[in-house]
Amino acid sequence: MRYNLSEISQLIEDRRTVLPEQFSERKVHREIIENLLNAARWAPTHKLTQPWRFTVFMGRGLSVFGQFHADTYKRITDPVKFSEIKFEKLKNRPLLASAVIAVAMHRDSENRLPEIEEIAAVSAAVQNMSLLAAAYGLGFYWGTGGMTYTDEMRSFLGHDVGDKVLGLIYLGYPEGNWPRKTPRKPIEYFTQWVED
Ligand SMILES: Cc1cc2nc3c(=O)[nH]c(=O)nc-3n(C[C@H](O)[C@H](O)[C@H](O)COP(=O)(O)O)c2cc1C
Repeated sequence: MRYNLSEISQLIEDRRTVLPEQFSERKVHREIIENLLNAARWAPTHKLTQPWRFTVFMGRGLSVFGQFHADTYKRITDPVKFSEIKFEKLKNRPLLASAVIAVAMHRDSENRLPEIEEIAAVSAAVQNMSLLAAAYGLGFYWGTGGMTYTDEMRSFLGHDVGDKVLGLIYLGYPEGNWPRKTPRKPIEYFTQWVED
């Protein structure tokens, strides 16, 4: 197997978060989203539990999702803390995207693995998706705001108690230039070498 290593390294560096507010009107086709989901399933998975679960909202599904998200926020938030601006944002943000993909971790029925390993596998799956999305020139935003971590969101998506919603991916084509690099620390900062 031969790969173009410099292109792959460049892709990894170039992958960026693009917020829905930076998306153009151009729509991402379902076939491309299927390709992203196919990339997800090749992530590493201990005992092959394949714990990733996705719910794709597209078309009218985007307004269904936005309405649910905003209504849930209103219903479970202390009226003193409620913000109309946040309500509108939760409702309308999905409409800026071609698709919103809710990402969840499904616990296998026997709980064979520590939860952290299942979350790690789903995170790897999301990274596969985001790299392929970057290769397509797609904007990709992994958000965890709003009601992401609530039981209401988990059950709306049809997931069991014990499963966890890990985020909402907003997909679209970026308007204008690809975002600039975000800063990263050098490897010396986070690596210990033990040799000899
Ligand atoms: C688990 C996870 C949750 C995230 N949640 C949010 C979020 O709620 N809001 C946000 O603006 N960005 C969120 N991000 C994206 C980060 O802000 C982004 O990756 C970071 O700014 C670095 O930018 P880059 O992805 O372009 O390199 C999240 C990223 C991860 C891995």
